Parts: sequence; structure tokens; C-alpha cells
Amino acid sequence: MNKILLLLCALVTFLVSSHAQDNILINAYNRPSTSLNGAWSYIVDPYETGYYDYRYTPHDQSANPGNGAFYLNAKPKDKTDMIEYDFDQSPTMQIPGDWNSQVEKLYYYEGTVWYKKSFDYKVLSKDKKIFLSFGAVNYRADVYFNGKKLGVHEGGFTPFNFDITGLVKEKGNFVIVKVDNKRKKEAVPTLNTDWWNYGGITRDVKLIEVPETFINDYFIQLAPKNKQLLSGYIALKGSNVSGKKIALNIPELKINKELVTDSTGRAVFSIKLNKITFWSPDNPFLYDVFVKTNDEELQDQIGLRTIETQEQNILLNGKSIFLRGICIHEENPLRQNRAYSLEDAKLLLTWAKELGCNYVRLAHYPHNEHVVRLADQMGLMVWEEIPVYWTIQWDNPQTYANAENQLKEVINRDKNRASSIIWSMANETPVSKPRTDFLLRLATKTRELDPTRLVSAALEIHATDADPFTKTIDDPFANYVDVLSFNQYVGWYDGLPDKIDRIQWNIKQNKPVLISEFGADAKYGLHGDSLTRWSEEYQKVVYEKTIKMLQRIPQWRGVTPWILVDFRSPRRLLPGVQDGFNRKGLLSDKGEKKAAYEVLKNFYRLIKKLYE
Ligand code: GCU
Repeated sequence: MNKILLLLCALVTFLVSSHAQDNILINAYNRPSTSLNGAWSYIVDPYETGYYDYRYTPHDQSANPGNGAFYLNAKPKDKTDMIEYDFDQSPTMQIPGDWNSQVEKLYYYEGTVWYKKSFDYKVLSKDKKIFLSFGAVNYRADVYFNGKKLGVHEGGFTPFNFDITGLVKEKGNFVIVKVDNKRKKEAVPTLNTDWWNYGGITRDVKLIEVPETFINDYFIQLAPKNKQLLSGYIALKGSNVSGKKIALNIPELKINKELVTDSTGRAVFSIKLNKITFWSPDNPFLYDVFVKTNDEELQDQIGLRTIETQEQNILLNGKSIFLRGICIHEENPLRQNRAYSLEDAKLLLTWAKELGCNYVRLAHYPHNEHVVRLADQMGLMVWEEIPVYWTIQWDNPQTYANAENQLKEVINRDKNRASSIIWSMANETPVSKPRTDFLLRLATKTRELDPTRLVSAALEIHATDADPFTKTIDDPFANYVDVLSFNQYVGWYDGLPDKIDRIQWNIKQNKPVLISEFGADAKYGLHGDSLTRWSEEYQKVVYEKTIKMLQRIPQWRGVTPWILVDFRSPRRLLPGVQDGFNRKGLLSDKGEKKAAYEVLKNFYRLIKKLYE
């Protein structure tokens, strides 16, 4: 009997989680919602005693989960009861927010922390649905609501939500989340990264109410290679989606189009446009867009632009551009935590703008939605990337499914953002057939989900043995990307600064080239001559020589030096210099400008004039 019950429980869990996972809920950002941000109780559980029983069977897969199952939020019924946890007597942490920066003893912690948030809710009317929405949780989230398992999400940097209609009560609701940030060989990213493994519920949590039949998804962009055509789709979800009227209203384009959904609830449109104000870094114009059904109206702010390549050029709205960029990690150095707020986004993107950038590379994972929406407003083009980083398990089907799911989630979230122009499949991944097949599958999926943006990756480059000073891109994935990108560290990891002067490039592919990384470490305030490792002078000369060298690449169309700000990394341990920081920032972790900062700023001032 027990086995059948177990099987039944597992099946229900799968159905709930897969059902909960397949929902999209476009534009969660602007929807009317109830925030669950704020103080959440937490329990640190390194042995996952709240998840496994003493025979190491997950409590939530047991027909009779005992009092040890934290997700039940059990309370003693009388003095004989033995319960060894109590969320309400436990400390609290601010959500959104990583645990490393909020709790001293969790600075290096990698493991499980449980969170609980209780709330009352008004009676949900019959014609409404309600979703529990997370901006991101790093890394794995097991989510429970009022003692029921909603599902599991893997991936630390993309949004997900669960349908809790029918479970929410007027009084005494409680959300319990088991967060596990342990690094795993089969995960995405894998065991080894050069950034801090901030764990926790790191982005906003909210309750989103929608009508029983609601606007679940839409894609509203200019058609690829046709600046005069607005095309896309709007999709409803619910019990009655066929033949429904949808109004698409863009007042400043004099569009007020009535659409009707097909039997699947989708309405496709193609609208010829006369006069458009194109979105661009110099004029980041956003249209107010209204999508309306009888039951709800959503508002979005959408910029219209085209992005394409033509031979060795990148064209924005048909005009060749140079991407004056900088790499950014999602970290607020002044608060020394995982960045998550609009204020954090303003700090980082304002620093990028002050540097003269029209473009940022969001390394090495999708950043929070405030960043891309602010980039829309500030006029910064964006390279977005999933954390397929270094030595991923290429031949593991679950690893691929995880990578593809994260890709789907970020494309779904940002596909209406004008600032987002490039989807990056990977960073510095060792060439092999399984790896290139893995990346090609991701690229194919990307183009299927979003044919309007460019596909790239930080590819592998090599010098020929015959001539160590001539570099080439012999990465097979170069045949599949729209834009060739690669990281190169001549003068830092590869020789000393003088080697930079001798480098030639032999790039055979007739495509634009973006240098996705170059740089050198410098401890702010450490001075010496240009061969003194870790000095500002060394970093400065690497910038001066590299910028000169890159101009020898005829199809060079942009660059994102590594990196805007010093950032935390467990791999950077040199006392008195690194102290747990990667020091390749142009700014110190206190926002102080190093000598190389002006070198890049001056170059961007010059190159901007050349492309005007
Ligand atoms: C690599 C990698 C970065 C890393 C950098 C470095 O290119 O992409 O994530 O931080 O080099 O070594 O500083």
C-alpha cells in the first residue's frame, strides 16, 4: 500500500510542479500585486533535517510526513508534542536579499536555508486566479504553500511563479521556501565560477491576481529586418480563451487595433507603421502600450528598434554602430551584496553612462528586471547571458534542460525590452562536440523563441603554435552565432603588456566582432611602474595597449572590458591586494576611479564621434 501512496504523491507533486512551472505571466513587473517583500523568518539547515527523514527520504514524498517536515509549519498541540523547529521563534531576514551579506555567520555558507512568510488575504472572488511570483531564488527553491508542495525551481537568476488559486485562505496563509545554493557539477552554473555564490530569495516576491481568463503572454516588437512593421502576438490563458476580443492600443502610434483570439487563445498581428520614433541610446523613446480584454488591462513601456548584422557591421535601426560597453556583475559594491533593487540598478547603470557607455554586458547570468527596464529608459543596449559558464556537464540531459529552461525564462521576461539586443549562450566553454551540440541546441531554441535579437557567446580563441602572436577564432560555434565575441587577456594572463603590441588577428569569419572581455587587476591606490603587477599603472598600460591593438581588427564593432567594479570572488585570495575580490574593476569596491578609467572614457569619447 505504501508504495502506491508514494507513487501517487510523487505524481501529484510532478503534476503540480510541472503545471505550476509551465505558466509564463508576462509583465509581472507592472501588474497589480501584493508584495511579500519584507521580514521572513529563516532556519539554517545544513543537514536538511527539515527536508529528509532519518532514513533520508524526503518528508514531502512520504504519505505521513512527521513533525520534522518544516514545510508543515507544525506547532505543538499539547505539552507532550515533540517538534524541533519553530519558524515563529526563529530570526528574520529581509527579502529580497541574499543571506551572505545579511547574516555574518552565513557569509561563506553554501547549503539549505528555510524561509517562511505568513499573511492574511482577502477572499479571492470566484472569477479570479492568484499566482505566487518570485523574481529569482539562488539556486534551487522547493516551494510550499499552506502545507502543500507547489513545486521546485532550479536556476538562480530567472523568474518563476506558481498558481495558488484554491489554496489561498482569508487568514493564516504561509509560504515556506527551502533554498539550497550548494554548487553542483550537473548544475548551471557548475561547481566552478569566478563570482560570489550569494544564496537566498534574492529578488522580489509578490502575489499577482488575474481574471480567470487572463493575458498570459505577448510579444510586441518590430518585425526582424522590417522597420515599418509592428508584429507579434498576444496570448490568453484560462478556461475560455477562444474567440476573445483583445484591444492593442498604442496612442502615440495611433494604433487601436481590435484582435480576436484563435482556438488556442492566441491573437497574432502585423501592423504597418508610418511614422515611428525609433528607440536608440541617444533617444531611448518608449511607447506606452495598452493590452486590454473585457476582464483586464495591462500597460507596458516598449521601445521599437531593429537590431541586425550585415556582413561585418551591427545595425541599429539600419545604421552601423559601435558598442561602447562595460561588463557588470549583479552586485552593489557599496552595500556589498547581490544587487536586486531599482536603486542598485541606478547606481551601476549611471556609472556605466558616466564612463561613456551605450551598452553593457550583464555577466554571467540574467540580472534583475529593474536593470533591463532601466536600461530601456537610460538608453543602454544590453547583452544578456545564461550561466553556461566554463565546464558545464555537456552530456547530461538534465543539465541541458536546466540551461534551456533558464534561457526560456529570461527570453520570456525580456523579449519586449528594446535595450536587450544580444542573447549569449555561454562564456568561455572548452570546445568539444558535446559542448558545441549543447550550445547549438540553445541557439536554435533562442531563434525559435525570439527571431528579433542577435545570438552570440564568448567563444574560444587560440594562437597558432607556429606563431604565438597571431590569434584566430577556431571555435566551431563561431559558425552559428550572429556576432563573434571572445574574451582575451593578453598582457595579464597571457604574457606581459609588451606582448599586446605584437598581437595580430586572423579572423576568417565575415561577421562583426565584439570583445566580450579584456582587463587586468589593480588594487586601487597601489602604485608602481607599468610592470608592477596589481598596480593601477599596470592596468592602465594594458588598457592603452589593448585599445590600440584591437583597432587592428577590421571587423571590430564593440567591446565590454572586464569589469566596471571590483567584485567578490572566493577564488581571489591574495592578502592585501585581492582579499576575496576580483580587482579588474575600473572602479574600486568603494566606487573610486582607477587610472585606467580615464583611458577607456577618452577612447569612448573618440569612437562616439567617429560613429556619429
Ligand atoms: C574570465 C571570466 C570572468 C572572470 C575573468 C577573470 O574571462 O569570463 O568571469 O572573472 O576572466 O579572470 O577575472
